[in-house]
Amino acid sequence: MKSDPGQIIGHNIIYLESVTSTNDYFKTLDTEKIDDGTVVIAENQTHGRGRNGKKWISSTGKGLTFSVLLRPKIFSSQTLIFSYIPVITLTRFFIRHLNISAGIKWPNDIYVNHKKIAGILYESASYKNSLKYFITGIGININQNIDDFNDLKSSATSVAILLKKSVDKELFLFKFLKEFDNDYRRFNNSADWEDDVVNDWNSLCQHMNSRVQIMDEKNIKFFGIFKGINRNGAALIKTDRNIIKTVNIDHFSLRENYVISD
Ligand code: ATP
Ligand code: BTN
Repeated sequence: MKSDPGQIIGHNIIYLESVTSTNDYFKTLDTEKIDDGTVVIAENQTHGRGRNGKKWISSTGKGLTFSVLLRPKIFSSQTLIFSYIPVITLTRFFIRHLNISAGIKWPNDIYVNHKKIAGILYESASYKNSLKYFITGIGININQNIDDFNDLKSSATSVAILLKKSVDKELFLFKFLKEFDNDYRRFNNSADWEDDVVNDWNSLCQHMNSRVQIMDEKNIKFFGIFKGINRNGAALIKTDRNIIKTVNIDHFSLRENYVISD
């Protein structure tokens, strides 16, 4: 494969047949020496990861599993709001290029008709108050058919299932990386980028103003109306007592109140 996606993101792509996790692969390298925007993509991950120790399953060769290392010049306190940029680009990509009605489930999952089509896991390191590097790991279900999903049949979908045809994974990846590159540079050059991220993310969220439940790692829950994210990247939940609670990403999960009909 030849690569030339964006000016920064994807100008350098590392292709692997198999790896534990593309996010982990970066950590085995000297991250100082890796260029901003380097992408690592694997046909197979033996230990694909989601948030909080959950697994990301991708049938070998059928999905896209890749990570991008970025070095935005931001404070470490801005990492959380920055982390929403990839999910904004990818959700828009589904809508604009594939006519797939995708929406974001907080914080970084993409769903279509209540089935998950993509997930994003970010990891970062800071030095003093500055962000040193940011790794965004992206898993997208592309050419899986329903039988490939095994235990996830009722909760997962793919581009091929929705479009009723298989798609060129490499073309998908290259087009996405170009858009991600555009967005990365657009946000980098905007003085109000945090507000832009808040507005974009909120407009693509599938459960804005809906009733949700929030679970922590001990499964203790509270209910409320989802009111979007704020400039710090925290989720805002209006409780039944009309109090706005802010919820940070780490260790919290969100569940929507809906019934799956099929
Ligand atoms: P939350 O982010 O709210 O904690 P979650 O349960 O979706 O929600 P994540 O860590 O985001 O957890 O994602 C991992 C979960 O995604 C797995 O536990 C599994 O249920 C699901 N999953 C794993 N692989 C796939 C896939 N290829 N397609 C769709 N869903 C998947
Ligand atoms: C989630 O659903 O919470 C996140 C899933 C992220 C999966 C991707 S696949 C590429 C990268 N490598 C991993 O181990 N995880 C991410």
